[in-house]
Amino acid sequence: MDIQEARNLLKEHGQLQLLDYYDELPREGQEALLAQISKINLSAFHGLNAAGARKPGVLSPVPAVTAAEAEANRERFRAAGLAALRAGKVAAVLLAGGQGTRLGSDGPKGAFDIGVTRKLSIFGQQFANIEEVTRAAGVYFHIFVMTSELNDAATREFFRQNDYFGYPAGKIHFFVQDMAPSCDVHGKILLAEKGKIAASPNGNGGWYASLIKSGVGHIVKEEGIEWLNVYAVDNVLQRVCDPVFVGATVISGAGCGAKVVKKVSPEEKVGVLCMEDGAPAIVEYYEMPPELASQRRPDGELKFAYGVILNYLFKTELLNLTLEKQLPVHLSFKKIPHVENGETVTPESPNGYKFEYLVLDLIKLMGSCLAVEVVREREFAPVKNRTGTDSVESARALLERNGVKL
Ligand code: UTP
Repeated sequence: MDIQEARNLLKEHGQLQLLDYYDELPREGQEALLAQISKINLSAFHGLNAAGARKPGVLSPVPAVTAAEAEANRERFRAAGLAALRAGKVAAVLLAGGQGTRLGSDGPKGAFDIGVTRKLSIFGQQFANIEEVTRAAGVYFHIFVMTSELNDAATREFFRQNDYFGYPAGKIHFFVQDMAPSCDVHGKILLAEKGKIAASPNGNGGWYASLIKSGVGHIVKEEGIEWLNVYAVDNVLQRVCDPVFVGATVISGAGCGAKVVKKVSPEEKVGVLCMEDGAPAIVEYYEMPPELASQRRPDGELKFAYGVILNYLFKTELLNLTLEKQLPVHLSFKKIPHVENGETVTPESPNGYKFEYLVLDLIKLMGSCLAVEVVREREFAPVKNRTGTDSVESARALLERNGVKL
């Protein structure tokens, strides 16, 4: 794209402010800015306003394989899961591209030291959990690690320094997620520097598109990987490629599986797996009408009982079909440092929007989803904050309860 093409395009979309400092930039800076502009989907910024939470459709509870049913069928599910793992049909995708702003640590979230008397990173603990599966299966599965431009180098270095946590390095493949530009409240894209567009990682929902177009995407096809187990970096009790979950999903014939836990209260801030207009969907806690969230069944249990823990098993065949579909965009109102009158300004209160795709929106596109309930004290210890709910403190307590020496 040359400067004239950029000018015409930006004018058409009302984004000419991106060229305000173009003439001041050195030649390479000008080229880099044009390259950034050429990659933006400018129509995404049209008619932008402070879109509130989405209004969900008609909701009904989702049937799930309860923890008791999973236990009763354990051997059958586990055998099917181990067979799929041994046949190389299953791989894992670690979503590690987040910024961990609530945790407030500089490095990658997975590098956070959760140990007390010894060093124990979140990555390290997750790999210790994975070892139980690889030992039982007798094979190592591929693990794709999604990073972002902001933490890719640091994440790779952390893996190298830690000798890939004892996992074969050749089975671990890094790929970088896409970035999305940030804009002000009027939909005008912001500049982080005179020659650099303000952008942030585009959420955890674009992982498959980013994986496939990355340099490691071909492995999925060449190795005949049929299932991808996607999981969040910030759950230290995360069970990856859990044979029982894999087996239950494969046997069910569903297009995907989701690990769920029973919500502790109607107000708990987790996405809820339910049926929406007849299809499986995840409704975020802030979208769920409070009167539905608090409804109870005759036995006293919550009607919309199952919260997701960001551990899903997706059929790759179906994921390929999603590549042509547009996922909904979620906006979050944030403080975005930007250039104003030639100076970089760091605002004290939110001044614009970041754009994110969310992995939970993929569920709807899969057509069917098997919910598998797991025992939360054994599998759900999220590390979102330093203290309080879902924090380093609460995760440490849960690890100790599960016999992990800290
Ligand atoms: P969160 O939604 O908790 O976001 O991520 P975060 O960025 O880690 O933390 P905060 O909100 O800034 O405090 C849930 C999972 O999705 C991944 C995270 O790494 C985590 O595993 N994620 C999130 C990505 O991989 N990319 C993103 O752009 C956002």
